[in-house]
Amino acid sequence: MRAQVIHAHGAIEDITWEPNWRDPVPGAGEVVLKVGACALNYHDLFSLRGMPGISLPFPLIMGIDVAGEVVRVGAGVTGVKVGDRVVVDPFDRETGVLLGERADGGLAEYVKVAAKQLLPLPDDVSYEAAAALPVAYGTAYRMMVTRGRLVAGEKVFILGASGGVGTCCVQLAKLAGCHVIVAASSKEKLERLRALGADDGVDYTQGDWVREVQSRYGKARFGGAGGGVDVVVNFTGGDTWVPSLKCLKNDGRLLTCGATAGYDPKEDIRYIWTFELNIIGSNAWTRDDVASLIELVRQRKLVPVVDRVLPLEQAREAFRLLDERKVVGKLVLKP
Ligand SMILES: NC(=O)c1ccc[n+]([C@@H]2O[C@H](COP(=O)([O-])OP(=O)(O)OC[C@H]3O[C@@H](n4cnc5c(N)ncnc54)[C@H](OP(=O)(O)O)[C@@H]3O)[C@@H](O)[C@H]2O)c1
Repeated sequence: MRAQVIHAHGAIEDITWEPNWRDPVPGAGEVVLKVGACALNYHDLFSLRGMPGISLPFPLIMGIDVAGEVVRVGAGVTGVKVGDRVVVDPFDRETGVLLGERADGGLAEYVKVAAKQLLPLPDDVSYEAAAALPVAYGTAYRMMVTRGRLVAGEKVFILGASGGVGTCCVQLAKLAGCHVIVAASSKEKLERLRALGADDGVDYTQGDWVREVQSRYGKARFGGAGGGVDVVVNFTGGDTWVPSLKCLKNDGRLLTCGATAGYDPKEDIRYIWTFELNIIGSNAWTRDDVASLIELVRQRKLVPVVDRVLPLEQAREAFRLLDERKVVGKLVLKP
């Protein structure tokens, strides 16, 4: 089969196009999918470059989010047959293996997965939309709905709003009836986020964004009628962490699921105790989260934001776009 392969951690140029890679063969309990679409995540860049504490089996085909058609079925598989359209829940909770990280993923013509990780895909949900869902949208769903418990009318400030997780956070906060404020690195990104439903936005490259948010929404005051937003969503970390605490109102909630710009930021716990802030972590998604998202997409209540679809051959270009932050929503590759 044709595949994009990495042979070691490295740079985007080290992603290698292999036109004659070995076809996967399904073992017991496994199926092989013909990949319909594979969406990239920032996590793929972490995998490519290497992350502390995570060792990968090389050579490796990356690509965590996959939707496609079942073409081969291994022994003992029930409930799934050749020809079924499916999307993969990429995390095997029994073994701890993440597809495209510790097992070959979807940046190829075919991929082998355990049948228990498949979710059925309705005919009216495209492979491109489905592949956008599990990691980014599943994580956003868990963070905003299950852990964040957004309430209609709340003011929600979302950093990193233009990315895969971020665009879904915007959509889910709007679905919940919240007032959504977004932060992005350009006017163009802010415009696209407004078209998605964002009510307000700040270009954080233009001056002091904390002051800007405080000037529009006020700031917390202990024991008094201060202002501030109800919820900040911050999976950027790094030097955005403490500033984002300053945007919250008393008893406000900071939701986090990641740290694109650094996981050990400077902390200032004075803000946490003084204004009784709640730091709420959220990790990954459940099978039910993905199923709920598929249903929302089927009902047209949620339309995954796909920035563009590129042929599998252009994986390097797709990684470059992601790395250079030239994407709003998801990048999808198709064999
Ligand atoms: N815990 C989990 O299970 C889980 C699951 C999914 C994702 N995550 C984490 O969530 C984060 C976002 O993932 P994603 O796939 O949505 O990423 P993405 O599509 O690349 O979006 C990230 C966004 O963050 C903004 N950003 C701010 N500072 C950045 C920096 N230093 N480098 C890169 N982008 C920066 C960018 O928008 P601007 O240019 O507008 O700033 C970008 O659009 C990642 O850290 C990822 O590992 C965690």
